Amino acid sequence: MFEAVNVSREIIGQGRNLLLCEDGSAPLSDMLAEYAGQAQCVYIDPPFMTGDSFTRRRRFGQAGWKTGRPAPEYPAYADQFDSREAYLAFLRELIGNAHQLLCRTGVLALHLDWRTSAYGRLICDEVFGEEFFLNEIIWSYESGGRAKKYFSRKHDTILLYARTKDYHFDLRRVPLERTEHRKNHMRRRVDEDGRAYSEIKTGGKVYRYYDDAPVYPGDVWTDISHLQQRDPERTGYATQKPVKLLDRILKPVVRDGDLVIDLCCGSGTAMEAAQALNCRYIGVDSCPEAILTTASRLESRDLLLECPCAMDDTRLEGMYTGEGGMMLLTGFSASHPSFPHTEQAMDTLEAWSAGHIVGDAFVVSESFRRTPRSPELPLFCLLPAGEGEPAISTVDAAGRRRVFRWVD
Ligand SMILES: C[S@@+](CC[C@H](N)C(=O)[O-])C[C@H]1O[C@@H](n2cnc3c(N)ncnc32)[C@H](O)[C@@H]1O
Repeated sequence: MFEAVNVSREIIGQGRNLLLCEDGSAPLSDMLAEYAGQAQCVYIDPPFMTGDSFTRRRRFGQAGWKTGRPAPEYPAYADQFDSREAYLAFLRELIGNAHQLLCRTGVLALHLDWRTSAYGRLICDEVFGEEFFLNEIIWSYESGGRAKKYFSRKHDTILLYARTKDYHFDLRRVPLERTEHRKNHMRRRVDEDGRAYSEIKTGGKVYRYYDDAPVYPGDVWTDISHLQQRDPERTGYATQKPVKLLDRILKPVVRDGDLVIDLCCGSGTAMEAAQALNCRYIGVDSCPEAILTTASRLESRDLLLECPCAMDDTRLEGMYTGEGGMMLLTGFSASHPSFPHTEQAMDTLEAWSAGHIVGDAFVVSESFRRTPRSPELPLFCLLPAGEGEPAISTVDAAGRRRVFRWVD
C-alpha cells in the first residue's frame, strides 16, 4: 500500500537547476547562500503594493484539459502589506539579496510599476551605488481599460543596475527589425558600393544610417505586447509576463551556461527564457502554486525542487510489483470544494512521478502530466530498480503536492 510521507525535496536528473519555495526577502537560506556571488543576472518582479490577491486558473481532469473549458481559480499570492514601510523593508531585503547573489559581471533587472518604481530606484542607488545605474526601461503595452480622469497607466518600469564596473552587456544580441518610418526626415542616399542609407546633419556633424546596419532597442519598449487572454503561453498564473520580454532583458546580459536567479519567479517566465538561452537557473517564490506552475512549464530533466507537501487524508491506491517492476495507480481520493462531482476519481490527479526516496529527497525516474495534447494521464509505468524506497509524488487538480511511499 501507499503511505503519505512528508518529503519536500524532489530531484530530477542531476538537479543542477533549482526551484525553491521560500521567502526571497529573508536572509539567504543555506541552499541559496551557496550561490552568493555567482549569478550573472538576478531578475525580480515582486508584488507592486496593489493591495490585491491573485489566483491561478487550473484545468480540471481529462475533459478540462481536452476542451480548455473555463477553469476554476485557486489562490496564488496576496499582494498585501501592513504599511508602505513594510513593503519598502521587503523590497530592500530583496534588492540586498540580489546584490549578494550577483557576480562581478552581473546585472540586476528589477521590474516595478508606477506605484513602486520611484522607491526601487532610491533603494537600488543605496544598495548598488548610483554609479551602477544602467537603465530605466519603460515597457509600454496596451491592455484593457482606459482611465478618464488621468492618462491611462500603461507601462511598467524595469531598472537595470550593474554589480560592478566590469559588468557584461552585449547589445548586439538583441537587434530589432528595421522600420522605415523613422527616417522620414532624413535624406535618402546610396554610397559608392551601392548600400542605401539615410543621412542627417546636426550640429555641424553628418550622421549616416545604413539600411542594412542592425538597429538596437532604446530604453522605451513598445514592441512587446502583454499576454492576450487566450495566448498559448498563458499558464493561468495571474501577473505572468511574456517570455519575449524576459528574452530581451536576459540576452544582452548572459552567456551560455551563466546562472540566472529570479527571487519572485511566479509562473517561471524568467526561468523559461533562461533555459532557452542555455543558462542554469534558480527560481524562488514563497507561493507553492508558483513553484509547481514553473516546474510543470519547464519540463526540465535537470531540476531540484523544494516545495511543501500537503499532509491530509488523501489516499493513493495502487500496486508495485517489486524491484525493477511496475507501478500502477488505481485510485486517488483528493477532495476540494471546487472539484466538480465526478465518477472519475483520477480526474483530481493532474501529474505524478515515480521514483525512490533516497535520504531526504524523492528522486524521480518517470514523470507524467496532463497537457492539452495528451489530456489523458497514464496510470502505470515501469520503475527502474534504484537505491531507496519506491515512491510516487502527485500534484492534484488544486495544485497540492503530495508524496507516497510504497509499503509492502
Ligand atoms: C508579479 S508576480 C511574478 C510574476 C512572474 N514574473 C511571471 O512572469 O509569472 C510576483 C511573485 O512574487 C511572489 N512573492 C511574493 N512575496 C514573496 C516573497 N517574500 N518571496 C518570494 N516570492 C514572493 C508571489 O508569490 C508572486 O508569484
